Amino acid sequence: MPDALRLKGAFRMNTLGFIGMGNMAGALAEGFIRSGRLPASRIYAYAPHQEKLAASAARIGFTACASLKELTAAADTIVMACKPYQVEDVLKACREDLRGKALLSVALGWNFARYTALLDPSTRIQCIMPNTPALVREGVLLFEEAHSLAADERAEIMELFGALGMTVELPSALMGIGGAVAGCGPAFADLMMEAYADAGVKYGLPRETALRLAEQTLLGSARLALQSGEHPGVLKDRVTSPGGTTIRGVCALEKAAFRSACIESIDAVMSHDLKRRDN
Ligand SMILES: NC(=O)c1ccc[n+]([C@@H]2O[C@H](COP(=O)([O-])OP(=O)(O)OC[C@H]3O[C@@H](n4cnc5c(N)ncnc54)[C@H](OP(=O)(O)O)[C@@H]3O)[C@@H](O)[C@H]2O)c1
Repeated sequence: MPDALRLKGAFRMNTLGFIGMGNMAGALAEGFIRSGRLPASRIYAYAPHQEKLAASAARIGFTACASLKELTAAADTIVMACKPYQVEDVLKACREDLRGKALLSVALGWNFARYTALLDPSTRIQCIMPNTPALVREGVLLFEEAHSLAADERAEIMELFGALGMTVELPSALMGIGGAVAGCGPAFADLMMEAYADAGVKYGLPRETALRLAEQTLLGSARLALQSGEHPGVLKDRVTSPGGTTIRGVCALEKAAFRSACIESIDAVMSHDLKRRDN
């Protein structure tokens, strides 16, 4: 198997197939390819709108499949990456073809127990909750503790996904909240960058400069917190000198209930019905 994907130890996965090739699947496929761990020639995908699929196949380099059947025949490890409300119908269509294969699911609201109830016992299951920064290898990849992969296979898949960012294992009961914070979080961080860029523009910065300042400030602050291991409150205290300007900005955010707004954004995510079509 000279040109097969080679990770540490025994190797199982040869080909990876995506059911659905939208934002998340595209981020994963591109991340795997860019990381150098999985060549595009070993990635397959199926999605109903074939013209759209062909366009992303041309851009990313994977092989487009004309049907679910073609995809499940081509790939030994399958990633479920369509919308959560579509998963059940897709499973009905390919349950038999998934026998003996590994199914990795990134669908919000789907967990090991839910798949186990619907799939053949020979299908090995692992639910993973990624986020879109995986595209630039700065993602969060939540792995559900409950799974039915073989130990070496799981280690290999965690290593593959680890190329896209930080892998974290969570008990099934915490996958929902983990996914809300890490999966929806990029949109909230985007909003914050946009807002600070607007503020910069309000006081005269050119739009592009304002955006770059806001983006790099968020990135740098996150890196500083991660690398130093310091609590964000400690880092905030260090840049708020007594009677200074930064503490005035912090107080303005507190007055506007910034923290409460952040927590309420997660309340809104957690209270949403995942069976709705707009998920
Ligand atoms: N976006 C995120 O940040 C994020 C984060 C964590 C988890 N996720 C999970 O990732 C999954 C995909 O989300 P997304 O944002 O990538 O959605 P998306 O961009 O709308 O992509 C959905 C994909 O599913 C395909 N699809 C629709 N019906 C299908 C069917 N019957 N069989 C196979 N494929 C079908 C669509 O194909 P057509 O375009 O041809 O219709 C499209 O390629 C969801 O389950 C979501 O919960 C997303």
